[in-house]
Amino acid sequence: MASLSLDPHHPTEHDAFLVAAAPSQSSQVGEGKMFINAFDKTADLDVLDHPIPNFIYYMRKVIIMAKSILEKATEQLCRTLFLDRITIVDLGCSSGPNALSVVSQVLDIISKLDERQSKEEERTLPEIQFILNDLPSNDFNSVFQSLEEFNKKIKEERGNLLVPYYVAAASGSFHGRLFPSSTVQFFYCSTSLHWLSQAPRELGSAEAISQNRGNIYFTRTSPPWIVKAYREQFRRDFSTFLESRFEELSVGGGALLIFPGREGEDEDGDIFNHISELFSDSLNAMAEEGIISKAKLDAFNMPFYSPLLEEVKSIILNESSFDIEQAHLLSYKWLDATKLDILRDGKMIANGFRAWNESLFAHHFGDAILDELFERFAERVSRGILEEKLTNCTVSNIIIELKKNTPP
Ligand SMILES: C[S@@+](CC[C@H](N)C(=O)[O-])C[C@H]1O[C@@H](n2cnc3c(N)ncnc32)[C@H](O)[C@@H]1O
Repeated sequence: MASLSLDPHHPTEHDAFLVAAAPSQSSQVGEGKMFINAFDKTADLDVLDHPIPNFIYYMRKVIIMAKSILEKATEQLCRTLFLDRITIVDLGCSSGPNALSVVSQVLDIISKLDERQSKEEERTLPEIQFILNDLPSNDFNSVFQSLEEFNKKIKEERGNLLVPYYVAAASGSFHGRLFPSSTVQFFYCSTSLHWLSQAPRELGSAEAISQNRGNIYFTRTSPPWIVKAYREQFRRDFSTFLESRFEELSVGGGALLIFPGREGEDEDGDIFNHISELFSDSLNAMAEEGIISKAKLDAFNMPFYSPLLEEVKSIILNESSFDIEQAHLLSYKWLDATKLDILRDGKMIANGFRAWNESLFAHHFGDAILDELFERFAERVSRGILEEKLTNCTVSNIIIELKKNTPP
C-alpha cells in the first residue's frame, strides 16, 4: 500500500502545512495532525516561499504536495504491472504554466527509477503515453507549441536517463467516458474535480431565486436545501466520474485526485464562501446600478462545489469500483497577514480569480463588463483583507489515491 512521505521528525521551515490526515478504509495512515515533507527542489521551495497569495502558486503548492504520492504510484506501475508501455492521463490539464507539470514530474520520477534500476537489474522501464485532457475550449494549441521547448529542456536535464514518452491530447468532459475500456493505467486530476457538470438545476426555481437572492453560490445565509442541492449535484457527477474511470482503467490501474475541499459544515472559515460572497457583492452593486440585468444575476450560479472529505469517501465506498489507498485533507492558512500589501494583493487575488473563472463569467454576463466587475471585486477583496475576514480563512485540499477494484 502506498503512503504519503511524511516526516514529522524533521519538519523544515517550509512545512507550514499541517496535514489533517484522515485514515483510509484500509489503513491508519497518519491520524491527527502531522507535517508533510514532500518538497525536493529549490524551485519548488521558491514557490512555497512566495508571500503573495495567487491562484497559480496555490495550484503549484498542491501539485508539489501530491508529488510524493505520485512518486510511489508511478514506481508501483513500473515495477508491478510489467507492461511495455503505460498510459497516464492528466484530467483538466489546463493550458498555463502547469499544463505539462504532470509529464515533467512523472519523467523526473522515472529517470530516478531508471538510474537506480540500471544498477540493480536489467529490466527496461516502459514507454509512457501521456494524454492531456481538458474541455474543448482549452487552448491545446499553446500547450503543444510549448512542447518542443519542454522536450529540449527535459533532454538536457535527464540525458540518457529518459524513457521514450509521447504526449497526446483528448478533449472532452471528464464527467463521462473519454477513453476505450481498459486502456489507461493511471489518472491524475488536480484542482479540476470541484467543477460540476452544471450548477444544480433546482437553483433555477423561483423558490431558490427568492431564497438565495443575490448569491452566486451557497453562503452563510443560504437555506440548508441549497447546500444540499450542491452536495447532490457533486454526488451525481463524482459517481459518473468514478464509473467512467473504472471502465477506462486496466487491471492494477489507479488514480490520484486532488481538489478543493472543506474542513467542516461551518462556512465561516471557508475561503471559497468568502470569495464568492465578495464577488456576489460586486455583481449585486452593478445590478443595482443597472450595469447588468438583475434577471441575469438571478440566473447565475457557480457550477462549483468543495466537498467534505467524508462525503467524498462515502461516494467512493457506495460506488464500490475503487479501493481508497489513502485519503487526506490538507489545510493551510491562505494568506500570510504579516506579508500582505492590501491594495496590491487585493488586485492580485482578483486577477487570479479572473484567470480561473473569466470564461464562465464572460459567457454569462458578456465581455464588456469584466474589467469593471473585477476592479470592484479587487476593492472588496482589499477591504476583506483589511477587516481580517480573509486573513483568517483556511484553504483545504482533498488528496485521494485510488486503486481499481478487481474482483477476486
Ligand atoms: C484550475 S484548472 C487546473 C489546471 C491543472 N490541472 C493544475 O492543477 O494546475 C481546472 C481545469 O479543469 C478543466 N475542467 C473543468 N471541468 C472539466 C471537465 N468537465 N472535463 C475536463 N476538464 C475540465 C478546466 O477547463 C481547467 O482547465
